[in-house]
Amino acid sequence: MHRTTGKVAPVAQPESFEFTPEHLAEAQGIIAKYPEGRQASAVMPLLMIAQRQAEGWVPKAAMDYIAHMLGMPPVRVYEVATFYTMYNMEPVGRHHVQICTTTPCWLRGSDEIVKICEKKLGIPLGETTVDGQFTLQEVECLGACVNAPMMQITSYCKDYRDEYYEDLTPENTAEILDALAKGEFPKAGPQSGRNASEPSGSTPATIFKLDASSSVRGEQVKAGNDVAAAPGTAKNPPKLSRDDRDAGEENPAANPKPARKTTTKKSPKA
Ligand code: FES
Repeated sequence: MHRTTGKVAPVAQPESFEFTPEHLAEAQGIIAKYPEGRQASAVMPLLMIAQRQAEGWVPKAAMDYIAHMLGMPPVRVYEVATFYTMYNMEPVGRHHVQICTTTPCWLRGSDEIVKICEKKLGIPLGETTVDGQFTLQEVECLGACVNAPMMQITSYCKDYRDEYYEDLTPENTAEILDALAKGEFPKAGPQSGRNASEPSGSTPATIFKLDASSSVRGEQVKAGNDVAAAPGTAKNPPKLSRDDRDAGEENPAANPKPARKTTTKKSPKA
């Protein structure tokens, strides 16, 4: 889903665009991955390269250049570039702060993250600071829901960076923005100290003990931790629903049938 926040000001468009030799080689490498006649499939990565080269946005001249390179009508490139929020149709600040506010992040406090960003930077969502250092944007799910709330910060500078900052609180969000303002790059990833998306508590999710209150496939396990007798084990195979059985029939590998007995007919005696 595409979400637009803030106003779109008229933008001064450059008259021409072409990839630098380094970006051209990168683009050609991507195009070469597609079979002859399917080069248009490279449009998305090429738009990203153009955005990096233009330091944060995709000018119209870059879309025309890519359309020509891929042999597709320019309007097809405009359609792709304007649909996805990851392509910016106007210049953004040096640090593009994209805060996810989709349901899992919202339930984990993204409203507070938006508030602290707006307060620290002195701008509402959709705006860029006067010094051109930060642009604040609200985006849809960025696929890191398990470490919600989170934000993505893309920094268009000599050392281009595109990082996720996760397990945010108003406090650690303020620290991240302070560090960026000072020209530092804080450690990306979960800010809570956990590694990647491991459980935030002390018990690994894959280790559990069966007891009277445990439930496997909706069936109560008998008291006494009789793991061997638990549903889903060889001693007590799970009852399959009609859907499960149908899936098994469609996928014989998942539900192999016993081998059929074969008998050899004796040939009649001559
Ligand atoms: S909902 Fe925020 S990353 Fe998925």
